[in-house]
Amino acid sequence: TILIVDFGSQVTQLIARRVREAGVYSEIAPFTAAAEAFERLKPKGIILSGSPAGVPDEGSPRAPQALFDAGVPILGICYGQQVMSHQLGGEVRPGHETGEGGEFGRAFLTVTEPCALFDGLWEVGERHQVWMSHGDKVTKFAPGFKIVAVSDGAPFAVIADEERKFYGTQFHPEVVHTPDGGKLIANFVRHVCGLAGDWTMAEFRQVKIAEIRSQVGDGRVICGLSGGVDSAVAAVLIHEAIGDQLTCVFVDHGLMRLGEAEQVVSLFREHYGIKLVHVNAEDRFLGGLAGLTDPEKKRKFIGGEFIAVFEEEAKKIGGADFLAQGTLYPDVIESVSFTGGPSVTIKSHHNVGGLPERMNMKLVEPLRELFKDEVRVLGKELGLPDIFVGRHPFPGPGLAIRIPGEVTKERCDILRKADAIYLEEIRGAGLYDAIWQAFAVLLPVRTVGVMGDHRTYDNVCAVRAVTSTDGMTADIYPFDAAFMSRVATRIINEVKGINRVVYDYTSKPPGTIEWE
Ligand code: XMP
Repeated sequence: TILIVDFGSQVTQLIARRVREAGVYSEIAPFTAAAEAFERLKPKGIILSGSPAGVPDEGSPRAPQALFDAGVPILGICYGQQVMSHQLGGEVRPGHETGEGGEFGRAFLTVTEPCALFDGLWEVGERHQVWMSHGDKVTKFAPGFKIVAVSDGAPFAVIADEERKFYGTQFHPEVVHTPDGGKLIANFVRHVCGLAGDWTMAEFRQVKIAEIRSQVGDGRVICGLSGGVDSAVAAVLIHEAIGDQLTCVFVDHGLMRLGEAEQVVSLFREHYGIKLVHVNAEDRFLGGLAGLTDPEKKRKFIGGEFIAVFEEEAKKIGGADFLAQGTLYPDVIESVSFTGGPSVTIKSHHNVGGLPERMNMKLVEPLRELFKDEVRVLGKELGLPDIFVGRHPFPGPGLAIRIPGEVTKERCDILRKADAIYLEEIRGAGLYDAIWQAFAVLLPVRTVGVMGDHRTYDNVCAVRAVTSTDGMTADIYPFDAAFMSRVATRIINEVKGINRVVYDYTSKPPGTIEWE
């Protein structure tokens, strides 16, 4: 085990992720609980995280002194390096005092000495890109340390005390902008700390199952399924831990893709034997959407109605002690604003986010530390079918935000057919996994066409496909012309109500991925 001591950095979880990628198990403890965690875990190595604080600031966090006396290897990152230097007898001064300012963003360092962190990776004299983000800097290192790499702005870019196996990096190895960062962390946990690197998601599964059992005891858990990967993986994992103490509620708003609702129900009930309440609320949702055309009003209605239906169902089954959610780490970071300032609402996102406060239940969130791709690996581990695990993200409000203007049952049915054909062609061409999201949109526009010898006057369908890594930015997927014309021809021929297909060529920004 590696103990990661968290001083409040935005990217502490990324350190844990890199350690997992190196095949090693880690636990994160806030600095206030680090001494206790150290006793309990008896880790083979310690990583000290970054922090928004500065070591010279009054009241800024410190590592428990015992960690430095335990004879265990330590890697200090950014603030972690500074706090270690400070606590071991070095000196850290604010950027403004040294008159040099900080370093933020891409930087280059030069390796000046061999170091165990660099083994098999970096040679003396080489320059490497790293990601810096610091104002203060170490101005005098602690006894026993030497400099092993320098950058223009940080003479102590990497420091090492090979005797005690203490290392400090002024840069952030855990972020992707430090291209070799993952390998540096792997060197630390495997090579320096001597851990085998054979930890897998299978063990994560076992650890979480034990945690869920101890958190829940003999309490009852309710989990809202959306049809998406995250809530499905959370539910299956929790079910494995506590069996029938879990009840899943699938609020079917009638705005799912073709065949999707049936798939969810049969997978959960038949394959996993999970207690599942399938609430067919199509009429209720479509009834409420009648006459609504404003995108925000549609979103707000669906979000509110979802919560109302969920609450009713929870009451019907006699309530629960815990609410389970498939919250992932990016959801956690996004909800903690980095700048602290208000951000502009582009769209009111609909998730079950408002539920916990309303229902006064404790949360079970077993995926909180994971990133999307890790959840997919865990899903496979739990036996979820590939087609389910690899599925493109789908927005909570469903097809309603892919039907600009008023949403009706008829329009949903038309869109479902077109969307299914489009996705079938994408899968057939082997392109599904190269695309982040692909979907059809039914426009509130009718155009004139000719089919056979007849005039048609029908709807326009837009198709969209984007690549992205996190949904925050996106680029269009460049299909070839033959593929596009096959899709257009099939949709127009096979879907009554559509006589024209257009391709959405807008990246994000300036567009958003969804149309509303
Ligand atoms: P936009 O359209 O804002 O979408 O570029 C970014 C990503 O978020 C998905 N999305 C949602 N997901 N509830 C969700 O759970 C929502 O209300 C919602 N709206 C958009 C969208 O599909 C894309 O992946």
